[in-house]
Amino acid sequence: MLILGIDTSCDDTSASVVEDGAKIISNIISNQAEIHKKYGGIVPELASRRHIEMIWPVVNEALEVACVKLEDLSGIAVCHGPGLIGSLLVGCSFAKAICYSKQTPLVAVNHLEGHIFSSFLEELKPSFPFIALIVSGGHTCLYRVDGFGKYKELGRTRDDAAGEAYDKVSKLLGLGYPGGPVIDKLSQDGNPKAIDFPRAYMPESYDFSFSGLKTAVLNFVKHNELHLKGKDLSRITHHTLLNDIAASFQASVVDVLVRKTEWAMKKERIKRVVISGGVAANIELRNRMKKMGAEKEVEIFIPSVPLCTDNAAMIAAAGYHHLESGNFAGLDLNPKAHMPL
Ligand code: KG4
Ligand code: ZN
Repeated sequence: MLILGIDTSCDDTSASVVEDGAKIISNIISNQAEIHKKYGGIVPELASRRHIEMIWPVVNEALEVACVKLEDLSGIAVCHGPGLIGSLLVGCSFAKAICYSKQTPLVAVNHLEGHIFSSFLEELKPSFPFIALIVSGGHTCLYRVDGFGKYKELGRTRDDAAGEAYDKVSKLLGLGYPGGPVIDKLSQDGNPKAIDFPRAYMPESYDFSFSGLKTAVLNFVKHNELHLKGKDLSRITHHTLLNDIAASFQASVVDVLVRKTEWAMKKERIKRVVISGGVAANIELRNRMKKMGAEKEVEIFIPSVPLCTDNAAMIAAAGYHHLESGNFAGLDLNPKAHMPL
């Protein structure tokens, strides 16, 4: 079964051809970071305009690389939420137009479901049940997954998502957008114990909170009169301190993510964890999770970095199961900015 996946939920235009929900034939991603960089975050209107320009070239390239014609497709899987509504509309309208003209079956995929199924695109696939930790720019949540369509939410962020905290801290340090990769890199030469930033554990809860941490970093910067904002990284003289701030902030985020995942595993008596979303690209998080897995005999599944960040292959992977179970979407499909899994 060949499925074309489409994801335009945020600031990446992506299209992918996947065979039987497991084998990537092509996976094209057009990134918009350059456009949003100077604003320190995503500008929704600019994102949707760029999606309109890129959707057809990206889909075309995905088909060309896969040597597949629209007529060869068993179905089209499109992400219909959650995400930026203007961005989602582009992918959904495009998918509906092709399905209408070619009489191709259409399925709608929740973006979070896509992240969960990204791990099924790797050679070593998880079996059910497992605990899923989704950590991205828009989401930080823990689920118990018992099978396709069987998701139980255990916890979610009460304020900022982990990736959002990375992006906001990066902005206040004058390091630009997106913040995750640059903070990840700076942390490698920093001392994670240099500054004791807070960790919001909230006992008895599987929820997360990162806004206090962000404020703590802001207060630290203000208190120490580090006027880093707006400066070019290469001109910053407080290099070591910047590395230490990055490493200490990152240690706080990673400690909480690892500890809460452990709590969830314990509560559900499951020794299998799947991690996905942009923050799952983080080197420290990957290492700490693998270490925890080895120490506690837990199976850890973290997809390769390009499959952790937003991509359409994961939408096609989840879409395969919708198609198999006959869960088709109509041409009246409407995207939604907020959508529970
Ligand atoms: O999943 P994703 O591509 O888009 C959303 O659905 O949000 O995640 C993007 C987020 C951004 O906040 C970005 O800063 C973060 O993932 N990110 C990272 C890393 N790479 C990307 N965070 C920490 N470490 C990284 N290496
Ligand atoms: Zn995402």
